[in-house]
Amino acid sequence: MNRRTLCPNVDWLGSIDWDRRLFDALVSTPHGTSYNAYLVRGQDKTVLVDTADPAKKDELFAQLAGIERLDAIVIQHAEQDHSGTLPDVLERYPEASVLATPKAVSMIEDHLGVPADRVTSVEDGETFDLGGEQLEFLHTPWVHWPETLLTYVRDQRVLLTCDLFGSHLATSALFASGDSRVMPAAKRYFAEIMMPFSSAIRGYLDRLQSGRYPAEMIAPSHGPVVDHPETILSAYREWSGEQPQNLAVIPYVTMHGSTRRMVEHLVSALTDREIAVQPFDMTCTDLGDLAMSLVDAHTVVFAAPAALVGPHPVIVSTAYVVGALRPKFRTAAVIGSYGWACQTEQRIQSLVKKPNLEWLSSVLIKGQPRKEAWEALDRLANEIADRHSTT
Ligand code: FEO
Repeated sequence: MNRRTLCPNVDWLGSIDWDRRLFDALVSTPHGTSYNAYLVRGQDKTVLVDTADPAKKDELFAQLAGIERLDAIVIQHAEQDHSGTLPDVLERYPEASVLATPKAVSMIEDHLGVPADRVTSVEDGETFDLGGEQLEFLHTPWVHWPETLLTYVRDQRVLLTCDLFGSHLATSALFASGDSRVMPAAKRYFAEIMMPFSSAIRGYLDRLQSGRYPAEMIAPSHGPVVDHPETILSAYREWSGEQPQNLAVIPYVTMHGSTRRMVEHLVSALTDREIAVQPFDMTCTDLGDLAMSLVDAHTVVFAAPAALVGPHPVIVSTAYVVGALRPKFRTAAVIGSYGWACQTEQRIQSLVKKPNLEWLSSVLIKGQPRKEAWEALDRLANEIADRHSTT
């Protein structure tokens, strides 16, 4: 892919990773991804914002052909998919300053081996004059590491946001308006990467929408450039907001069918009460699909048979992920079948802790579900309906 012009003074550099299917050995990328960097040129200075994943080093250097001098390299985020080629870029452009947040200085040394005294820290709100173009740096810790920086290209009204507002999507479309898959991919990205930091994101949205940073484009470091910024800003308002939807999500596992029958009964009971339900068999569910539903869920019901007394390990893993992603759901419950003893409730609850989470009545039954189980599940459905109607 050749270097592409976004607008006067700003070029897109980067590579499309069409075949990548897994990130961080955890996050699936069913539609690939891209690693975007940006070249900003003023009358006097040229700056590279971010680099590339080390596997894509050659593409980055091909796109830098003809660029004889870099005055600075902005490292918005020390994670290697964006900063990993920094040592090579510095070798080619030894004159370039490296600009990053104070927090990033040691992280760049730790992760990339670039000495701390080679990096210049920039303060929140600090500007960098390119001659007829100006950059302003915004500290935005925890989207999704503690050192993250956004870069506002003031004259062109372009906001460079690294992972924030990104999407794992490989596409030849430079702009989001050119590919209808962008918004679902952006939601998946938010769910998997950004959701734990929703509170911080709400604060950043306030700042970005204060009128001080009017943006005609939002240019993240994964996926296409958003050419209608209001679409992604309003979506992030909703996704990071605190109001859940009338939705119950049920991650489940079944071994001999009893827990599945309980899930089926609860799905029916909730549907009768006009609650949207999404059950997920976690033995064959992509975690990203579950995470996207968790963005909206009001209730999560963990459904697990006992395996050696505790909950089935697949649901243990699921509960750990749900706890780590910190979705906005307000109510939760545990249901399932067991053989002779059961510690399912306490073990799952220990993995999913968050303020103001209400645990509703568990329904844990020995052996096959019978009349008492169906009645208990109906009572649980009533509890869920009650909570959904009052919030
Ligand atoms: Fe795309 Fe956090 O790196």
